[in-house]
This record gives sequence, structure tokens and C-alpha cells, in this order.
Amino acid sequence: MSEAEIWQIEEDEGLITQAYPRRMAKRELKDGIIEVERLSKHYPPDLKAVDEISFTIKRGQIFSLLGPNGAGKTTAVEILEGLREPTSGSARIFGVDISHDYDKIRKRVGILPQNFEPFEMLRPLEALEYWAHLFNMKKSNKELLELIESVGLGGKKDAMGGKMSGGEKRKLGIAMSLINDPELLFLDEPTTGLDPKARRDLWALIQGIKKRGATVVLTTHYLDEAEKLSDDVAIMNKGRVIARGTPDQLIEQYGKETYIVLVGVGQTAVEELAKRGITSHRENGNVVVPVSNPRELRTMFAKLSSIQVEFKDMYTRRQTLEDVFLNLVGQKMDEGVLRA
Ligand SMILES: Nc1ncnc2c1ncn2[C@@H]1O[C@H](COP(=O)(O)OP(=O)(O)OP(=O)(O)O)[C@@H](O)[C@H]1O
Ligand SMILES: [Mg+2]
Repeated sequence: MSEAEIWQIEEDEGLITQAYPRRMAKRELKDGIIEVERLSKHYPPDLKAVDEISFTIKRGQIFSLLGPNGAGKTTAVEILEGLREPTSGSARIFGVDISHDYDKIRKRVGILPQNFEPFEMLRPLEALEYWAHLFNMKKSNKELLELIESVGLGGKKDAMGGKMSGGEKRKLGIAMSLINDPELLFLDEPTTGLDPKARRDLWALIQGIKKRGATVVLTTHYLDEAEKLSDDVAIMNKGRVIARGTPDQLIEQYGKETYIVLVGVGQTAVEELAKRGITSHRENGNVVVPVSNPRELRTMFAKLSSIQVEFKDMYTRRQTLEDVFLNLVGQKMDEGVLRA
């Protein structure tokens, strides 16, 4: 059989955008790598941990389930990982129904469970050898060392799992999840509890995995993380998906205002502005003027310039997913905990 008979190639302006075996259902590519339909998980007596969620995840994207502790993120991904049975609803991965034929899916999926801890007494290479063995895979030392390098653990080749930092442990967990070169990777809160530097390192690693063509399903309660990494976000709260879209779409739809920030002015400026009918408030030592319609920014700039308020600098700040979450849920989220 010729190459062309085996492979379906799709091109855009001379660049190959998709290449997949012809035997693979075309539907899978068109409709998404994961299709979830009214999926629910109830725990007795009356907890709806996941309550009729539906979404489609596109191939090659980073999809985030974003929500506070107890929102149902882990329950949802563990159903998709074939580890829990749904109470009702359905899901297909690679076009295959997860309730009927998970074995067909398993080989193509990688998993980093929440709160992953590596084997304490194994070094990265040993842990990966053991893991490959469990998966019945033959991997040369060279391949495993490349994998260790690729997650940024090259300098920690000889460290015992138990002696690694939080970020290094997660990197090793990600290396283990990549052992079968998965097309689809589930990362359940990969950066929770890590310091900012370690979080950024992992963000780069996750973006690298996406660049290599894998689809990533990420759960997080960090709004900045979801905004920075995701192509697509589902915000979950109390078992339900309460909003869905790209970070930009969510900000456009649920972010109420843009802000003009006047730097280096105090309360007198707020009073001065109030006299001209301009509402503002203080925030981190600056004064912030909300503008509900971005089209009114120009007029507001003109007004502010004509008022005798001595500011050091002036800039605009658009809303973030943090504001979107606050507008939707009515509470802020701090390390996964909702606060008034
Ligand atoms: N096996 C179980 N039996 C009973 N209730 C459960 C079980 N597993 C989870 N729950 C409950 O289901 C709800 C959703 O839990 P889940 O772990 O999916 O949330 P999460 O969004 O992953 O939270 P976190 O951010 O804390 O990891 C919680 O109220 C939890 O207590
Ligand atoms: Mg969880």
C-alpha cells in the first residue's frame, strides 16, 4: 500500500496541518478529540459531584477545567481517564465510547494524577524504567534519558524521588505520563502548591508538549494559569460548567469593564474626579476608573487629561479571568478556596 493510501494529509497554504491514518474516523478530527455529553456523577445520598456537563475538546489544544476545590474537576477527568464510572451521560474519546471500549483509548492517553508523588527511593531513570516495564514497553536508556531531559530534569538525574522539590516531582510525574508518547494528556492540578518560578517552568513544559502536537486537558484553580495556557476554558462550580470559551471570549462576555489606572495619586483624586461625575476607586496605591464600554475609552482619556490631577502615569488594564470569575460566582478564589 502506498503512503498516500495509508495517510490522509490535510494542507493549508502548503503546510501540513493534519496527518492521520485513513482508518481513523474523520469524525474524530472534525468533532473533537473528546466529546462529553450531559455527563454526571452522583454520590449518595445526594451529592452531584458532576452535574450534566457537556463540552467538546479540539485536537491539539490546551483545555482547562477551571474551578474551586470540590467543583468536580477531578471527578470529571477521572471519568474521562476510565477510572470512575459516570452515573449518567456519555463521553467519547478519539471517537470511542469510554463506557464500552476504554482499552482502545488507554494506550493513547497519559495521566498525571492530582497530588502525584514519585517513588521515594527511585531515581528518574529507574522510575521511568519501572514505569515502561509496567506498560510493557521497551525503552532504551537513551530514550529515557531524552525524556528526562525534555521535562527539564537533566540536572537531577541522580536525585531520589523523595529528595526532589515539589516542581521536580511534578516534572518526573509528567515524564512518566509521557512514557507512551500519548496523543492526549490529562494533568490534574500540575502546579498546585508550587512557587511562582516552578509554576512558570511547568507552564513552559506544558506549552512544549502542546507544540509537539498533544492535546492537554488541564485542571486548575489558578485563574492566571488558565488565562496564560488555555486555548479553551470551562469554568466549573458545584459540579456544573458555568461558562465556556477562550480566555478572550470569556473576558469579553463576562468581564464587565476596562480600567484606566492613574498611577501615584490618592484619595483627593477620587474626590476631584467625583466632582466631575467620574466614578473611581483606590487600588494598590493608585486610582482606578472603570470604563464599561471600551469604545468610551477615548472620551474618558480626554476628560481625565483636562482635569487637574497630577498622576505619574496612566495606563489601561483590561479585565482578567479573575474578574470574570468574580462576576460569575460572586466570590474570589484563592488557592482554590472561595472567599467573600
Ligand atoms: N468517592 C467519593 N465519594 C463521595 N464524594 C466524593 C468522592 N469523590 C469526590 N467526592 C466529592 O465530590 C465533589 C467533587 O470532588 P472533586 O475531587 O471532583 O473536586 P475538584 O474540583 O477536583 O476539587 P479540588 O480542587 O479540591 O481537587 C466534592 O464535594 C468531593 O467531596
Ligand atoms: Mg481535584
